[in-house]
Amino acid sequence: PARNGGRRSGLTFEPVPPNDLDDMIVPSGYDYNVVVRWGDPILPGAPEFDFENQTAEAQSRQFGYNCDYVAFFPLSRRGRESERALLVVNHEYTNSELMFRDFDPEGTSQEDLERIQIELMAHGISVVEIRRRRQGGYEMVRSRRYNRRITAQTPMELTGPAAGHPWLRTSTDPEGRTVLGCLNNCAGGHTPWGTYLSGEENFNQYFVNAGMVEDRAKRESYERYGFGETLPPFGYRGWERTEERFDLAEEPNEGFRFGYVVEVDPFDPDFTPRKRTALGRFKHEGAETTLSRDGRPVAYMGDDERFDYIYKFVSSRKMAKGNGPRARKHNLTLLDHGTLYVARFSGDSPQQEIDGSGELPSDGAFDGTGEWVPLVSGEKSFVPGMSAAEVLINTRVAADKVGATKMDRPEDIERNPVNGRVYAALTNNTRRGAPGNPGPDEANPRTDNKHGHVLEISEEGDDPAATRFTWKVFLLCGDPDDSSTYFAGFDKSQVSPISSPDNVTFDERGNLWIASDSARALPQNDGFFAVPVEGPERGYLRQFLTVPFGAEACGPRITPDERTIFCAVQHPGEVDGASPDDPASRWPDGEQPRPSVVSVFRQDRGRIGS
Ligand code: FEO
Ligand code: CA
Ligand code: CA
Ligand code: CA
Repeated sequence: PARNGGRRSGLTFEPVPPNDLDDMIVPSGYDYNVVVRWGDPILPGAPEFDFENQTAEAQSRQFGYNCDYVAFFPLSRRGRESERALLVVNHEYTNSELMFRDFDPEGTSQEDLERIQIELMAHGISVVEIRRRRQGGYEMVRSRRYNRRITAQTPMELTGPAAGHPWLRTSTDPEGRTVLGCLNNCAGGHTPWGTYLSGEENFNQYFVNAGMVEDRAKRESYERYGFGETLPPFGYRGWERTEERFDLAEEPNEGFRFGYVVEVDPFDPDFTPRKRTALGRFKHEGAETTLSRDGRPVAYMGDDERFDYIYKFVSSRKMAKGNGPRARKHNLTLLDHGTLYVARFSGDSPQQEIDGSGELPSDGAFDGTGEWVPLVSGEKSFVPGMSAAEVLINTRVAADKVGATKMDRPEDIERNPVNGRVYAALTNNTRRGAPGNPGPDEANPRTDNKHGHVLEISEEGDDPAATRFTWKVFLLCGDPDDSSTYFAGFDKSQVSPISSPDNVTFDERGNLWIASDSARALPQNDGFFAVPVEGPERGYLRQFLTVPFGAEACGPRITPDERTIFCAVQHPGEVDGASPDDPASRWPDGEQPRPSVVSVFRQDRGRIGS
């Protein structure tokens, strides 16, 4: 039974129609402001942004590029409203071709090497203090106390069972415990003990010469993680020209030191970020957390690759309440001790009814049961032939061995705080059912899955620590006129077209909010969507905002008072062939495009979604 008692969704906003404008479009009655843009000085004394005269030193004190996951940590409250807060944002990657005029991917001049250092500094994480504006939304404060840049050169500690393993040792770090920087930080999580989590996703793209690594097991592992592939739109990055560690022929283990969930205490600007090996190594999308029935943290995680897996980590320790030094110290150990599981899904309909068309099987649902298969728990491995540390470093290989279910690019996965179910975005997989690739199964039921889907998972006993679950396909995305789409059975003539669900969050009534990253799989800009998961409006998906041309929509983050929703506008103007001389977007300043975080609010300061 629905815990919101069949209450209506409260979503009454007028949907934003599909468009390809070079602007942010919000519903009528709403407004937005840009909180912080790429290059904005965030540390005291940092220089103003100057597109034509960038330096690595300046970028190290300015907001980074391609803002993705957004977390909001209240600092001071008036009633339910947060007057001041910390906005913590990660910077997934850089678009060299948009950041620099006359960019030469093969260049070796002093200027080219400086550009690479600028890009290193534009990666990572930003912590920014913000304050509420009288007219709605938030603005940045250049706070001496909290503002911080974490970059691809910031020292970080490897912790957990794999820390110090021989595969993590390098010539500059013979202990295998200290890494410089985090890379490709995509989605993340925020913990009930007040820390920020950030997932290192496509870290393979920064390294060269994986094929020249002498040790065969290491070479095979690099291959399983896609080292040596070039990823559009960047292709060859060439970072090894100024940082030898990105050349695996020189430093064969450096690539094993990326691909983790990084924990940061945003309230302590001197905190050394920690790479939590207990959560496994893969192309981490998010790591949103919840608590088990007995008070232990659980993190849900996707490995965003075609035919890779859904994971969860269950801590063996209970969270300590309160914010005192002892509780804080204890809580910073929670993600070093626990069990890592991978998901196996079983359908309940005959396989011949899963024909790849998206047509529902005769029992009326793509659904079934599943189990969380343990891979490793502390020092104990459950995978034959692999030690605990090997499972944590080579997690994909371990999951292959236990027969986990190959999914359609698992992205953000999060527990709904109202109905307790877990929602997983599977962004797309155009290779599903293609020759030489796995065919459809009930949990990934469409061949050539261009527009992705959303799964709804119910943990046994409504306990996030459970090892069994049931599941159901909630949405099959796309243009509702496309017969292969499904919106939980809701009348399709009323829903908005959506492609490639990526980041998710929930509002206070438990409505699901989805950000899309479609690379124009439908001829429309990406954006945010809201959809009720209970009651008569279940499946009634409506577009809430659209982002400027060429951008993907990230976040979303709704403030606890529900008066503001943050959207990270990532890579505006990212289209084939775009350059500073011919930009595909001029958002937000009418000049070169700048990835930015915006706050969206109702003009009358009412509740978001109403
Ligand atoms: Fe960086 Fe899986 O999105
Ligand atoms: Ca079924
Ligand atoms: Ca993502
Ligand atoms: Ca994305």
